[in-house]
Amino acid sequence: MVMWSVLKQTCSPLLLQSAHARLETRELVHQRRGCDSPVSSMMAELQPSTNSLQVPDEDRCRSTSPNSSPSPSRNECSIAPITPSPSPRSELRPRVARPFSVVVAIDFGTTSSGYAFSFTEDPEVIHMMRRWEGGDPGVANQKSPTCLLLTPDLRFHSFGFAARDSYHDLDPEEARHWLYFDKFKMKIHSTSDLTMVTELESVSGRRVRAIEVFAHALRFFREHALKEVKDQCSSVLEGDEVRWVITVPAVWRQPAKQFMREAAYLAGLVARDSAEQLLIALEPEAASIYCRKLRLHQVIDLSQRPMTNGLDVDGSRPFDSSFRQAREQLRRARHSRTFLVESGTGELWSEMQTGDKYIVADCGGGTVDLTVHQIEQPQGTLKELYKASGGPYGAVGVDLAFEAMLCKIFGTDFIETFKAKRPAAWVDLTIAFEARKRTAAPSRTSALNISLPFSFIDFYKRHCGQSVETALRKSNMNIVKWSSQGMLRLTAEATNELFQPTIGKIIKHIEGLMEKEEVKNVCFLFLVGGFAESPMLQRAVQNALGHRCRIIIPQDVGLTILKGAVLFGLDPTVVRVRRCPLTYGVGVLNRFVEGRHPREKLLIKDGRQWCTDILDRFVSTDQSVALGEVVRRSYTPARVGQRKIIINIYCCASDDVVYITDAGVRKCGTITLDLPEPETGAINNGTNGAELERREIRATMQFGDTEIKVTAIDMATGRQVKASIDFLSN
Ligand SMILES: Nc1ncnc2c1ncn2[C@@H]1O[C@H](COP(=O)(O)OP(=O)(O)OP(=O)(O)O)[C@@H](O)[C@H]1O
Ligand SMILES: [Mg+2]
Repeated sequence: MVMWSVLKQTCSPLLLQSAHARLETRELVHQRRGCDSPVSSMMAELQPSTNSLQVPDEDRCRSTSPNSSPSPSRNECSIAPITPSPSPRSELRPRVARPFSVVVAIDFGTTSSGYAFSFTEDPEVIHMMRRWEGGDPGVANQKSPTCLLLTPDLRFHSFGFAARDSYHDLDPEEARHWLYFDKFKMKIHSTSDLTMVTELESVSGRRVRAIEVFAHALRFFREHALKEVKDQCSSVLEGDEVRWVITVPAVWRQPAKQFMREAAYLAGLVARDSAEQLLIALEPEAASIYCRKLRLHQVIDLSQRPMTNGLDVDGSRPFDSSFRQAREQLRRARHSRTFLVESGTGELWSEMQTGDKYIVADCGGGTVDLTVHQIEQPQGTLKELYKASGGPYGAVGVDLAFEAMLCKIFGTDFIETFKAKRPAAWVDLTIAFEARKRTAAPSRTSALNISLPFSFIDFYKRHCGQSVETALRKSNMNIVKWSSQGMLRLTAEATNELFQPTIGKIIKHIEGLMEKEEVKNVCFLFLVGGFAESPMLQRAVQNALGHRCRIIIPQDVGLTILKGAVLFGLDPTVVRVRRCPLTYGVGVLNRFVEGRHPREKLLIKDGRQWCTDILDRFVSTDQSVALGEVVRRSYTPARVGQRKIIINIYCCASDDVVYITDAGVRKCGTITLDLPEPETGAINNGTNGAELERREIRATMQFGDTEIKVTAIDMATGRQVKASIDFLSN
């Protein structure tokens, strides 16, 4: 659905105080030509007479939007959907010669990250990254921990295991000057006003711009990956022969996606003027792209074993044994570091009927995010049926619950002091917990033993004047015992308490999603991401949702996103239809209608009454948008000599909004259109000036992709003007 409208630049009084801001305060009004009534128009609230931008009438007159304007004339001719360009169907999708020769995908995770690549000549082979140096006992490391270490003078030192081990080996005094970051991706999700200057705090409390931290990490991946790609290819590889893909959670908002892109530019992955060389892939979507390739022997189908009380009918433990088998196969597969993918869709899908739906839940460290898809046969493209959803319910929630449990036993002050004073020992403790966490299973009857580092026991005694054993006894935490070998023994009940809150949120979310009309009667639920390896999660999901659909776990569950991201890089048109996560639009002026518009929105200009602040939608929440579909709008700069037009974009989770001042509506971006210098003579010449006034700037916004893209063309000259939506300028 596409509409024509006029845009409004709202300015804060603060903005207007500066000369610079004044220069950029602009008014957008419809050009009255062809249509006889003053339809929607737009002007600056505070300085209505400064620069203006107009919408040519022929565009307006094609419009017939039912919902945007209270003005009858506007209904008649001002706003209309533009028939979107037909989505490329698979059979029509020519296999275009790819301008790049290798796709490198980076899965930048909250807890762990990795990369994989594929040569376009051989797209059915996906190469996984080389084995990382380091690694933890008891933990299968398919990816490297997302940890970064910077020197005291802010230079890159190391990433991954190397960073963690180096930080661990630093003298505690020295460590205070170094900057160590882990799990820093979560900050991007949780920061509501993310900008280029948002800061991250290192473990030692020093602050650095988040964009620098991400760029350091991406630069590390760039170098690591390029070296490996070069090792595997005989010809010399030019920088522009690589297509990069970075994965982000589907629930991330536009500023976060743009942030990742900016970090990639800073890291030198691609140049800003070769933006198309970098794709932002959505994590569950990437997983779904890979899942559709799955063969039956590559999955664990939890529903295939009938169960009573969570046990197989024969009393055996289905999760543990099936997972052991899968692990073994994975171990063998990992040995080769290359994976073959089906050229069509996998045989798992042969039982599906046209129109069958499935959910993919990426259960990662930080977020769990879900996508609902349908495979379009025979071409095998994907259609999103419901907007991406999810939240911060990743496996880190279990780590935080463990930390909270430690605080309950030993006191929050002590734990905070210990983390600050004995950072290496804290790292040891988290590693020990991670390994034990992965062995937690519903069938487990023995306690989960977590070794407390000697320095924890010693520091506690000196700091609090009593032993950890005494602390434990006094805490009345009966579900945690002390072992004389220096271990905390977590009973099954305690383990359950650590997992349940996080697992409960995941299930509640999926249940809620399954209630939606578009999602009812899904046939599969794919659990992917590292947390999906947890038998605790698998069992709970199977028990709660197994009666509604089949629960499927791909064998190499932690690498599903990475492999899918490579496939996405090879053919981004595979996801043909997406759902818009938010309502997007701009503020406009409409003709004021007495009794319909509130008086406080009345604005009088040139003797005419306008209703200001109306949100004019481009797309609505959960609206289906096909790849290649665009929203096209035309503007004309009304003031001769205008060099730049700034248009603010607003978004809102709900669709039920009328004004940009309504609750929940926020400014989320700015489109800046640079206009080329007008010819000098034209400015002083009345006729030419009028010509220039009608100069049309056609902006095209594409919403069906993983990112919102904008281009703008100066129709008078055919020259493309630079246009970008800046989501990071708030
Ligand atoms: N067997 C297991 N039991 C419990 N948790 C597990 C198990 N295996 C892995 N995890 C958890 O899964 C998480 C890692 O999963 P993954 O690599 O998919 O996350 P991520 O990509 O780093 O995070 P995100 O996608 O949210 O940014 C870790 O928090 C890890 O503790
Ligand atoms: Mg992930």
